Parts: sequence; C-alpha cells; structure tokens
Amino acid sequence: MNKNIAVIEGDGIGPEVTRQSIRVLNAIADSFGHEFKYTYCLMGADAIDKTGSPLPDETIEVCLNSDAILFGAIGHPKYDNDPTAKVRPEQGLLKLRKSLQLFANIRPVTTYTALHHLSPLKTKNIEDVDFVIYRELTGGIYFGKKEISADGNSASDDCVYSAEEIERITHLAFQAAQKRRKKLTLVDKANVLETSRLWRKVVKEIASQYSDVELDFLFVDNAAMQIILNPKQFDVVLTENMFGDIISDEASVISGSLGLLPSASIGSGSALFEPIHGSYPQAAGKDIANPLGSILSAAMLLDHFGLTEEAGLVREAVNWTLTNGFVTKDIDPVNFYFTSTLGELISDYVSGKIPGSVK
Ligand code: IPM
Ligand code: MN
Repeated sequence: MNKNIAVIEGDGIGPEVTRQSIRVLNAIADSFGHEFKYTYCLMGADAIDKTGSPLPDETIEVCLNSDAILFGAIGHPKYDNDPTAKVRPEQGLLKLRKSLQLFANIRPVTTYTALHHLSPLKTKNIEDVDFVIYRELTGGIYFGKKEISADGNSASDDCVYSAEEIERITHLAFQAAQKRRKKLTLVDKANVLETSRLWRKVVKEIASQYSDVELDFLFVDNAAMQIILNPKQFDVVLTENMFGDIISDEASVISGSLGLLPSASIGSGSALFEPIHGSYPQAAGKDIANPLGSILSAAMLLDHFGLTEEAGLVREAVNWTLTNGFVTKDIDPVNFYFTSTLGELISDYVSGKIPGSVK
C-alpha cells in the first residue's frame, strides 16, 4: 500500500515523540511491504518563529493533499501567560481542524494491567475499563465569537451549535457503539445551557435509527465524578468540544499517564492523528517524554488505512514494553527508559527482532 502522510512535529516534545512514531511506521512498512511517504510541515510556535503564522497556507495545502496527518504537540510557555499576544500557537491547530473539517475527535481510554498500580484509582475500579470519547471538534465555545470590551473590563466567548454539527458526530458515535458494547452516553449541561438542550433533542431524535444502542444522559459535572468513581459504566461517550477536552484529560488518569492516550480526528476528508497530551516544554529535548500516545496514534492511523493487522501488532508491541517494565519517566521516575529507546524497542518488536514477537 502506498500512502502520503503529512507530518507536523509541532512544539515542545512533539518532534521527539513523533520521530518514534515514524520509526515504528517505517518498521511496519518494511515488514508488510508498504510505502509511506512523509511530507513535513510547520504549525504552532515553531511556525510562528519561522514564518510569523501559526499555520502557514502551505501546511493546509499539504494536509489537504495527504492521506493522513501525524501531529505531535502544540504550545509554548512564552504565550501562556501573555494575555496580550495577538498570535498564539494553538490558533494553528484550531484553524487546521476547521480547514480540514475534522469534526470528530475520537479518544479511546483503556487500561494496562502492568500499570494498574500507578493509577491513583483503585485497581478493582479500573480493571477492564474500555471506553471511547467522541468529542465534537470544530464547533462550540472554541469557535464562537470572541470579544473584549474597549476598556478591557469585560469579555465574552459565544458557544454556538447547529443541529447539523451535532447530527454528523452523533451518527459516528452511534455507529461506534453498535460495534462495541452498544451503549452511548451524552455528556452535557442541559440543566443550564441552551446548546446542551439542542444536543439532547438532536441525539434523542437520531437514537430511533439505532434502536440496538442504549442511550443515556449525564450532566458534565456528574460525568466528571462518574469517570473517577465508576469508569467501567462507559462505552461510548459523546460530548461537545470543551467538555470533551476536559473529561479526556481527566480520563487519562485511569490509564496511568496522560502520555499514553492517542486520538484520531476525522471528518469528510483527510484525518489527523495526535496524542492528547500537550507540548510538555519542561521535558523538551531531554529524550524523557512518553512516545506511546504518539505511537498509539500511529496505530489509529494504520487502522484508518484499513491496516488492522499492522495496527494490532503496534498495540501488541506497546503492551509488551509496558508488561516488561520498559517505561518512560512519567510512569517510573526511578527506573525509566528514554523516549528513543521505547521507539527502538517497539520498532524491533514489529520487525520480529525481539524473541517471541510474531512477525
Ligand atoms: C487538545 C488540546 C487543544 C484543545 C489545545 C492545544 C488547543 O488541549 O487537543 O486537547 O483544547 O483542543
Ligand atoms: Mn486538551
């Protein structure tokens, strides 16, 4: 199979974790006879430094013409505490999501037996947790009108949703539930927000087309508590943009590290794959970041190409590293392995160079 992949390494630890994913993808390509061609492009603080823009037009062009996009991370501390900054790295990612119409962000939450002891939650509560968050990604408060008054003393961010925006992700979430344990939970704040009441109405209407799926509703404050108290109850969680951002970081605590969670953002055309973590500037360049969120995102990319055996092998390799104690500093601050060592081990595993691996 021949595929063109746009690569946006981005900021902070983005380049070093993405490099390990490329290494793994190359090992997969060699073993299975595929050809992946990579085109590197700029976005984020890196792009602002080099071009003045967080998302140069050329990057959009390359992404539109690629089969998939692999993205690292975005953000730089110099912008975080500067409310006057006119240009911000994050604007690049938001504009890319919008330009490519990546309206559904899929964030699977799983646990690994070898890491149960690391979770602040009780093992009995997190064993066999397996759910997936469908986060709407191109609407809501992230993209509404933003204003600051002339005197600088009041500000507003509008939260807007159209029925159509809700419908398209709702269908994807129901279809995912049909292939899983057939349960869908809509997370909203319908006791307060008009947009949430629209979400409920639209989702209820669509539910009749998926009568084999059980639908329930949770207010986001309660959902935040339930994710910690009893995460096993969830199968597919559907929610709007900002609630999805918040509860997916929260849910990463179940797995043991934010560094483990992958994501796929899909729309009508090209799809983007990125770990859910941020740019972690304190770790940048130190070879200590966890590359598994990125490598598991690469596995989702392989699934997207229909390469399920290849994706399964990458996941098996990731499991093998965790089971054998090959973990990065976020997981074991004393006995840890480097980012690049993890990348090498996983590449070797998928290439059949580790005794016991299948290929
Ligand atoms: C994420 C990130 C982004 C978001 C930021 C970097 C704009 O936190 O992908 O979850 O809020 O969507
Ligand atoms: Mn986030």
